[in-house]
Amino acid sequence: MVRKAVLPVAGWGTRFLPATKAMPKEMFPIIDKPVIQFIVEELLEAGIENIIFVTGRHKRPIEHHFDINTDLEKHLEEAGKREVLENIREISHMINPIYVRQKEQLGLGHAVLTAEPAVGGEPFLVSLGDIILEKGSEIVRGMVDTFQRFGKSVIALHEVEREEVKKYGIAKVKEIEEGVYIVEDLVEKPSPEEAPSNLAIVGRYVFTPKIFEMLRDTKPGKGGEIQLTDAMRLLLKEEVIYAYKVETRVYDTGNPVDYLKTVFEFAMKREDIKEELLAYLRNAISKQTQLIDRP
Ligand code: G1P
Repeated sequence: MVRKAVLPVAGWGTRFLPATKAMPKEMFPIIDKPVIQFIVEELLEAGIENIIFVTGRHKRPIEHHFDINTDLEKHLEEAGKREVLENIREISHMINPIYVRQKEQLGLGHAVLTAEPAVGGEPFLVSLGDIILEKGSEIVRGMVDTFQRFGKSVIALHEVEREEVKKYGIAKVKEIEEGVYIVEDLVEKPSPEEAPSNLAIVGRYVFTPKIFEMLRDTKPGKGGEIQLTDAMRLLLKEEVIYAYKVETRVYDTGNPVDYLKTVFEFAMKREDIKEELLAYLRNAISKQTQLIDRP
């Protein structure tokens, strides 16, 4: 049974400095909901309620977000803002989280290893805080089902453009029966020339506890960090890893341009925002085009 999820949220968020100097990137809003709440809701909808955050000293706002805020509740009550109040209360009671502190930011692999005492010797999920998946809970459920069937680790993969491979861990896979893939090789953030495919790891993993042994043996890799992808490479020598192909839209919020694209796409789903924003954009684009076309 997969009952627990580890959410590594201790990273520096260097791609967003100085915004992330005092503010966790996981708290960045997609309009009015922080990215991390999407990830938590996806897990809850998939039936995973034990959530372990691997956090760091500058990540307190995440803890506050999932905690009760009596002052705010009192204020909203007095102001008669019932709808917002209910929403705020719902978030406070969403989960009973466990927070594990990663004292030094030594990489994603190291963050996952830090959660070992809270996970124990059972299979678990890892969900990264910077990718939102369309129909994410179905994907998580599908990954858990694949785990139940084969009893081995499962990673979610998604096709990206060749120029994008340098942003992700890339996997080479083999189809062993219709719709069932196993991983043959993995490389963390390769150049387009080195990449063994264009299948990117999209931040959802189900692991057997064996990954912890591998993480202990993993040496610093790309960027001098202990990489989860490198630990999975070691795991491949001991156990089969299954691949789960994600065909839905993948929203990356981990770098400024993709973050803006994500906010835009979510705005297009909001009736209260869509029309006004589109009117503004039409106007803004025509002004930009005039500037570009000017001889
Ligand atoms: C991490 C992983 C990478 C994965 C990516 C997905 O990289 O190391 O393998 O493809 O998340 O978002 P990061 O984005 O933290 O640099």
